[in-house]
Amino acid sequence: MTRISPLFLAAAITLLATISTAQSNREPPSTGLHSLFVTAGKLYFGTATEINNLDDPTYQNILSNPLEFGQQTPENSQKWGLIQPNPGGFSFNSPDRIADLSNSYGHLLRCHTLTWHSQLPPFVSTTAWTPDMLRQLITTHITAVVSHFGAACYAWDVVNEALNENGTLRNSVFFEVLGEGYIAHSFRVAAEVAPPQMKLYYNDFNLETAPEKQTAAVELVKSLQAQGVRIDGVGLQAHFTVGQTPSLKSLIATLKRFTELGVDVAWTELDVAHEDVENASELAVEQQAKDYVAAVRACVEVERCVGVTVWQFTDRYSWVPGTFPGKGGACLWTDEYQRKPAYWAVKGFLEGWVAKTNSTEASAGANGTTATTAAGGRGTLTGVTSGSQRLIESSIRVGLVSVGVWLVLNMM
Ligand SMILES: *[C@@H]1O[C@H](CO)[C@@H](O)[C@H](O)[C@H]1NC(C)=O
Ligand SMILES: *[C@@H]1O[C@H](CO)[C@@H](O)[C@H](O)[C@H]1NC(C)=O
Ligand SMILES: *[C@@H]1O[C@H](CO)[C@@H](O)[C@H](O)[C@H]1NC(C)=O
Repeated sequence: MTRISPLFLAAAITLLATISTAQSNREPPSTGLHSLFVTAGKLYFGTATEINNLDDPTYQNILSNPLEFGQQTPENSQKWGLIQPNPGGFSFNSPDRIADLSNSYGHLLRCHTLTWHSQLPPFVSTTAWTPDMLRQLITTHITAVVSHFGAACYAWDVVNEALNENGTLRNSVFFEVLGEGYIAHSFRVAAEVAPPQMKLYYNDFNLETAPEKQTAAVELVKSLQAQGVRIDGVGLQAHFTVGQTPSLKSLIATLKRFTELGVDVAWTELDVAHEDVENASELAVEQQAKDYVAAVRACVEVERCVGVTVWQFTDRYSWVPGTFPGKGGACLWTDEYQRKPAYWAVKGFLEGWVAKTNSTEASAGANGTTATTAAGGRGTLTGVTSGSQRLIESSIRVGLVSVGVWLVLNMM
């Protein structure tokens, strides 16, 4: 490896620092979260959106930037209560607008959600169903909705939040009337009408933090597979709190428990909320950046993690303050559309990762070695701090001025 003098290294760091400051004030950047994530081998970096965001030009300007985003999930408008509020009365207007927009931006659409205990219309939750009637209702709903969107959906969250934190099945109209069988039934109906390439997901929260729930979700996937029911992925919502986000190691282990079963995984609703947003300290802001990086990095490091969806990219439209009073500031952009330190840290991590991978590949190619793989290169990038000098060296070696690398080194 080329030796670099300390003086040159210091000058390079100063240069990186200067450029990074300039960069943070410049719009638009030449790379973004989605473009870097794709270069790192992933399918998409996306965000939840909703029709109330359509009339906000600043929001749309960021959302439509192909460097930043490559995927959307409708936050609410595909939920049962909005899509079939009355028996047989389907209302596709709002989700169609999001699907059209997503398509016009060239984004993948994750569709959300079919069988879920919450946000149900009264006719579903209050009727005294017989098992046959309720099974038929699920069949009608899923068939109509999945057929309507067809190939516009890259994936469907077929069943959402079926588990309690202690690993038992959540009580709901579906569980009360049909028992555990409603889950397999929902997946079977979806598989019947879904285009073959569509991914059918089970989606839930706290799978990252509640061990009994995580184990129950693993068992649920195994049970569906044993019954010959098609399940293609597990969506982990990843609604985190600053400072309580699991470690990188733990997040990787969690994802791998599912990928070992032969299914894809994704962070489907990532956000990292400040416990007390009014009093968020500088330390908390840094911690939020680290938590975001841990989540994004875990996905990069697990081969079958296909992508990350943040649950809105700006605090302006985050669900958090409305649901958990006092909490907030959970997104990568402020409510005034400024990129936060967490944004720069994620971007910096991805730039460092991509640069490291490229330089490993480049040096492998330069001397005719074929054995050095990208995976091998990634394996050496353990701990951004300890790898800092190597990161900077490799950035310089491949002629990159990697702004984010400098930033992330200062964050971590
Ligand atoms: C598991 O949690 C659910 C929901 O909180 C609760 O109703 C149930 O009693 C718990 N079961 C056990 C065995 O602890
Ligand atoms: C912020 O912290 C101070 C001091 O602990 C406290 O008095 C105040 O109520 C807090 N503000 C909010 C909005 O919680
Ligand atoms: C090729 O380069 C790599 C990376 O610098 C090095 O580890 C390896 O020993 C080199 N192989 C040969 C045959 O020079």
